Amino acid sequence: MTSPILLTGGTGTLGRLVSGRLQNAGCRVRVLSRARHGTGDDMEFVTGDLATGQGIDAAVNGVATIVHCAGSAKGDGDKARNLVRAASGVGVQHLVYISVVGAEQIPVVSRVDRAMFGYFASKLDAERIVAHSGLPWTTLRATQFFDSMLMVVRQMAKMPVIPVPGVRFQPIDTGEVATRLVELALGKPSGLVPDIAGPRVYGMDELVGSYLRASHRRRLIMPVRLPGKAARAVRDGANLAPDRAVGHRTWEDFLAQRLGSGRT
Ligand SMILES: NC(=O)c1ccc[n+]([C@@H]2O[C@H](COP(=O)([O-])OP(=O)(O)OC[C@H]3O[C@@H](n4cnc5c(N)ncnc54)[C@H](OP(=O)(O)O)[C@@H]3O)[C@@H](O)[C@H]2O)c1
Repeated sequence: MTSPILLTGGTGTLGRLVSGRLQNAGCRVRVLSRARHGTGDDMEFVTGDLATGQGIDAAVNGVATIVHCAGSAKGDGDKARNLVRAASGVGVQHLVYISVVGAEQIPVVSRVDRAMFGYFASKLDAERIVAHSGLPWTTLRATQFFDSMLMVVRQMAKMPVIPVPGVRFQPIDTGEVATRLVELALGKPSGLVPDIAGPRVYGMDELVGSYLRASHRRRLIMPVRLPGKAARAVRDGANLAPDRAVGHRTWEDFLAQRLGSGRT
């Protein structure tokens, strides 16, 4: 029997799609989660916490490939450190990591930068830990997923007047990122591979506006300017990859499908 693939973050938005695709490709999947779950035919759950390292030695036991999708707003460097520590010297042959476009280009130097864009610094920290792990590795940087973008604009639309920063995004279908990640996981370790980004760049005002129209809401929009070096880099497009606009599905199509049946 072939060894299972360890999938961290397999209960998350991206991870659930990666898990389905790995199973469709005939792989046995072992999902790491902080919560307890029942185990199915092609899927095994292990309980552990990457932030503390608890349960991670058991999670990596007997796996040749790890797809590391677990992440949160803070501390992804520490999670990668604990994962790499457990995965070293136990026969892991491929560590695949999902990072974010802009991880290297967005300077997080001040307290203001860290408060708003600390996520990018923690993704860069994690990238470096993966690259220097001594394990064969692949890292893919993606732009913001449609699902996350929808969560953000939905939250913003709860306000009667919406403060909208002058930044742009190039969101991508989460399923397309999952497909690429699985392709990489089933291939050879490739280091830092070309970014994956959505088909079009949108102003934040356009993303909010399209959500308001699709959900039949009316709100006032108030442009705001974010302070700090990181915000300036984002205003200049450090979070975009226009030359890697390889995603096919459009934000409009995604919104129509998500909101078309009257759900908001
Ligand atoms: N969302 C985006 O727009 C975007 C863009 C580029 C890259 N990425 C990256 O893609 C990855 C997946 O993002 P997502 O939006 O799908 O995330 P998500 O839906 O928020 O899911 C997060 C996952 O991480 C796991 N997790 C969090 N902390 C953990 C811990 N301490 N120990 C073990 N597992 C932990 C959670 O598992 P349990 O709750 O079951 O423990 C969950 O499965 C992340 O690395 C993220 O940085 C995201």
